[in-house]
Amino acid sequence: MSQHSDINDNVNSTDTTDEQTLNSTSEPINNDNSTSQEIEPTSDKHIRIVNTFMKRRTHMNKNAELALTAPEFSEYLVNNSFGDGDLTGIDNLRTLFADSPNGADAPLTVEIGFGLGDSFIEMAAADPTRNFVGVEVHEPGIGKCAYMAGTQDLSNVKIINGDAIQLLKQLPENHIDRIQLYFPDPWQKKRHYKRRFVSPERMTIVTRSLKQGGWFHTATDWEHYAFWMVEVLDGFVGLTNKAGKGNFTERPDFRPMTKFERRGLDRGHGVWDLIYIKD
Ligand SMILES: C[S@@+](CC[C@H](N)C(=O)[O-])C[C@H]1O[C@@H](n2cnc3c(N)ncnc32)[C@H](O)[C@@H]1O
Repeated sequence: MSQHSDINDNVNSTDTTDEQTLNSTSEPINNDNSTSQEIEPTSDKHIRIVNTFMKRRTHMNKNAELALTAPEFSEYLVNNSFGDGDLTGIDNLRTLFADSPNGADAPLTVEIGFGLGDSFIEMAAADPTRNFVGVEVHEPGIGKCAYMAGTQDLSNVKIINGDAIQLLKQLPENHIDRIQLYFPDPWQKKRHYKRRFVSPERMTIVTRSLKQGGWFHTATDWEHYAFWMVEVLDGFVGLTNKAGKGNFTERPDFRPMTKFERRGLDRGHGVWDLIYIKD
């Protein structure tokens, strides 16, 4: 699981893929100029990729490990679930369901950062005629999610290991019906705001992949991030706030309680939902 709240600056972080310093003379890392916020020039020679996540090593339980290795769970895992997700060749999410009962044309929801996947799987099980793709970078979460999908024999779930931003850039325009981002890392310190998922640059990428009339649904338990999101999203041309400018949406019935939501509530936080519709 990536950082949250007071562990933004966790010194025990074991992975440095989060901010990679790359020599600018090597292979281009990104051909898309619209993602300027993700790439910070640090000197003439170096550029730094600013990710929205911080990969950390945490315990993988036996069921998660089984799901990442046993063939009966492989139908859920789109790419290699170990290490940094290789997204090469994943350029269409609908075709992943071509041979499933729903087929490729069913409504498609993509959840970014499902964590351990409990609420994601609950939503998929409750809405079997809709297809669900979950994207995560946290291996134990990917394993646990695949395990739950397999033990419930779900046919409408696929799981991708990797950076959702990179994935969305590879997809066609007007591809997804709903994108959901529940309790994203809040990146509370000012110097980390550039890592927040909801930013004008990242929303350009998100909105491009949404179908016209499609939804971007987010929720947070961090008040500062909640008002930051409204400001960014209300000001974003091409999206309309379902609740009207400046307003939050009532928590919809279809969104189950997530692990980080529960943690926030236990700490006395509020919860703010936002739904934006692509014009
Ligand atoms: C604070 S946790 C919330 C997990 C879950 N949604 C919940 O509410 O319990 C945020 C999750 O988003 C994932 N994440 C952050 N940025 C991501 C990205 N660009 N692509 C995929 N996953 C990402 C992190 O690995 C982490 O597991």
